[in-house]
Amino acid sequence: MPSNSNLAPLFEPVRLGALELKNRIVMAPLTRSRSSDLAVPPTFAADYYAQRASAGLIITEATQISYDAMGYSRTPGAHTDAQLKIWASVADAVHAKGGKIVMQLWHVGRIASRLNTGVARDVVAPSAIAAPGKMYTDAKGMVDHDVPRALETHEIAAIAKDFASAARNAIDAGFDGVEIHSANGYLLHQFLSSNVNQRTDQYGGSVENRVRMPLEVVEAVIGAVPRERVGLRVSPGHVFNGIEETDLEALYGHYLPCLESYGLAYLHVMRPTSNTMALDPVTMARGLFKGSLIAAANYDADSGAALLKSGGADAIAFGRAYIANPDLVERLKVGAPLNTPHEATFYTPGEKGYTDYPSLAA
Ligand SMILES: Cc1cc2nc3c(=O)[nH]c(=O)nc-3n(C[C@H](O)[C@H](O)[C@H](O)COP(=O)(O)O)c2cc1C
Repeated sequence: MPSNSNLAPLFEPVRLGALELKNRIVMAPLTRSRSSDLAVPPTFAADYYAQRASAGLIITEATQISYDAMGYSRTPGAHTDAQLKIWASVADAVHAKGGKIVMQLWHVGRIASRLNTGVARDVVAPSAIAAPGKMYTDAKGMVDHDVPRALETHEIAAIAKDFASAARNAIDAGFDGVEIHSANGYLLHQFLSSNVNQRTDQYGGSVENRVRMPLEVVEAVIGAVPRERVGLRVSPGHVFNGIEETDLEALYGHYLPCLESYGLAYLHVMRPTSNTMALDPVTMARGLFKGSLIAAANYDADSGAALLKSGGADAIAFGRAYIANPDLVERLKVGAPLNTPHEATFYTPGEKGYTDYPSLAA
């Protein structure tokens, strides 16, 4: 029993598809930019994730399905032997400490600079429209996003296939499942969007057309790995990376029931930093998707436990708190104070600000 009984719902076990969680506290996906130019995670990623194994579920940092899917500096992939060897050590280390871990799979689409990839590659998106704003590169500091090339219709199936083979790679490396990244303005979200997607083929225009590519990705992934081990993350109303969803209620009103029909392990809903929606996205999603739901963004233990108690979600994901508190579960259980995350080391290479946050035991 936790020292504060109001928090009890956080510590109850729950089943999300085939994933049996020992508690309802989830480590949110967190890009930490510690990998090599060839997107190989560092060996000490195993320590970082194993330190956090008391979470009911760990969702890894967003991980590329191919070099073309890479946009930022030093983010990892799941498509070469060298990458997968490290990922296998991560899965082993988390399992050895009794944890569960799924890999978040992404393609950044237009949120990219070629300077950030160690191999020649293309920047592709639904349409040839550059994202606003700038991004960081190790080579030249802040630069404009590259102008993407619009994907040819026939190329879309190859991307879905890359998602499927990365999912297979994750399961073969010992992961408990995968999470498809359909949030935060990256490729799947770009297809969903009413402004970034200006296509005139069967992947653009109507809501039914704009959800087609993300649904084809889901279909490819569940053709490669068990659907009860596949989750998907959305961020309705998150105006990030230049995304607009002018017909948001119609869009998610169609997308989420389609997703429900696949029998996935869970839907993961990230709330926007500033909510521009009339309806809270977690409440909206609970009404449109009858499967298991993880809610994320700006929850603390009290608001997360209250949401679980009201039946509004099945688990709560914590992001920044997990950067700084490897033993978040134990701290919440005894009511111990939380360490403060240091933003300056969120995305810097090396172990500093990564594996060196103290646990209570230390
Ligand atoms: C450093 C950092 C990296 C992040 N990387 C990812 C990511 O790789 N994939 C993703 O879906 N969200 C990512 N997010 C969003 C988090 O998963 C989470 O939703 C967000 O931090 C809000 O939750 P919080 O209020 O508990 O921190 C990131 C956030 C931060 C602060």
